[in-house]
Amino acid sequence: MDNIIIRGGTPLSGSVEASGAKNAALPLLAASILVEGPVVYHRIPHLKDITTMMTLISYQGAEVAFDDRSCIHIDATSADKPEAPYELVKTMRASALVLGPLLARFGTAKVSLPGGCAIGARPIDMHLKGLEAMGATINVEHGYVEANAPKGLKGATIVFDQVTVTGTENLMMAAVLADGETVLENAAREPEVVNLAASLRDLGAVIEGDGSNRIVIRGVSSINSGAMTAIPDRIEVATYLAAAMITGGDITVTQSDAKALKAFLARAADAGVTVETGKDWIRCKADQRLKPVNIHTQPHPGFPTDLQAQFMAMMCIADGACTISETIFENRFMHVQELVRMGADIQLDGHTAIVKGVAKLSGAPVMATDLRASASLVLAGLAAEGETKISRVYHIDRGYERIEEKLMKLGANIKRQSASEHQITGNIPLYA
Ligand code: EPU
Repeated sequence: MDNIIIRGGTPLSGSVEASGAKNAALPLLAASILVEGPVVYHRIPHLKDITTMMTLISYQGAEVAFDDRSCIHIDATSADKPEAPYELVKTMRASALVLGPLLARFGTAKVSLPGGCAIGARPIDMHLKGLEAMGATINVEHGYVEANAPKGLKGATIVFDQVTVTGTENLMMAAVLADGETVLENAAREPEVVNLAASLRDLGAVIEGDGSNRIVIRGVSSINSGAMTAIPDRIEVATYLAAAMITGGDITVTQSDAKALKAFLARAADAGVTVETGKDWIRCKADQRLKPVNIHTQPHPGFPTDLQAQFMAMMCIADGACTISETIFENRFMHVQELVRMGADIQLDGHTAIVKGVAKLSGAPVMATDLRASASLVLAGLAAEGETKISRVYHIDRGYERIEEKLMKLGANIKRQSASEHQITGNIPLYA
């Protein structure tokens, strides 16, 4: 397993280009199952989770290929195996996104139930209830969801108990080929949901209301071949902007979309950072000690849970105390103990962290526990005095494309140490 080693204390500056969004690309790729014909994908990031989704779709019998411009081509005409095996689903929960499209296209699907997750229980009960409302029979047996709708899915009104991003995406994809109208109430408003709806519309789906909490889908008998493009990764963008803020630097992220990050940028401005935005760029410049800012995570357009850990890292060196409340996931504070090892002063009280800013963090060996927690440790390492060694960086690689290269370009002293370079070897006799 690789490590990332950072020598902190350098203010970062310059410009960096945003990658396509992982959480937009995953449902777009899953939507290929709905199409009997080729779909070409643009701006799909090179990430482990993307490879897992491509493997899953090819396991189902689709043809998956790359071209020399980094575009992905998927033709699911020949797909004939509506299954998602445990071996793939256990490495990526978002594999459950194939359930809706498989059921819509084949009238049957067998998808492994995702297990627990580092940040919370994350059940998919609302996905399943929605499919049942659309006429599917669902059985959960031997760790698999077996869903059947031999006569096809039927439009229904589904009221989500709680806002769910992939739940909204799954049911939207299921409804595209269903008979009649489906209404999703209390639907997720995330930009990734809008990206999926707009892309499906381009291929002939009839969808209205995406971006609001009521989405209406009128089923069609088929959708066409075409192209889909992932939106900029707003979480990656904000993570690089946070790198400017935590190091007292000045970073512009190009090919990005400020409208998708309103809550984050507003809180950054509250922290005393100069925020400038253009049509497709965002600049953050920090030239004073950060002010403490309270945040609580919420579904979009509120403050994203996927940026809670990164904002906490910034607040660790703010000039005063603040509270950070996590309302989406029950266990998304695993970075706290690692930040404390770097000198942060954080107390946990249920779903709230009380962060008292310290003058400086100090580099330490720390462990990445999930994707966004890892990003917070990278940020803390960039600001800390001395060396920070982050282990288990495969978590970071699930969501950040070439993170050390991008940060290096901005002036960071960062390197990746491959597994073979850091093995601790002792004087152990060989067992002959
Ligand atoms: N929930 C249920 N039942 C369900 C579905 C969700 O109880 O059937 C609960 C979850 O346990 C959670 C809340 O509802 O407490 C919201 O979860 P949601 O379903 O919105 O999360 P998700 O769709 O599984 C996506 C992103 C996450 C991001 C969340 C929240 C993808 C592939 N994943 O997950 O991204 O944190 O929405 O915005 O889109 C990440 O990228 O690091 C990441 C975890």
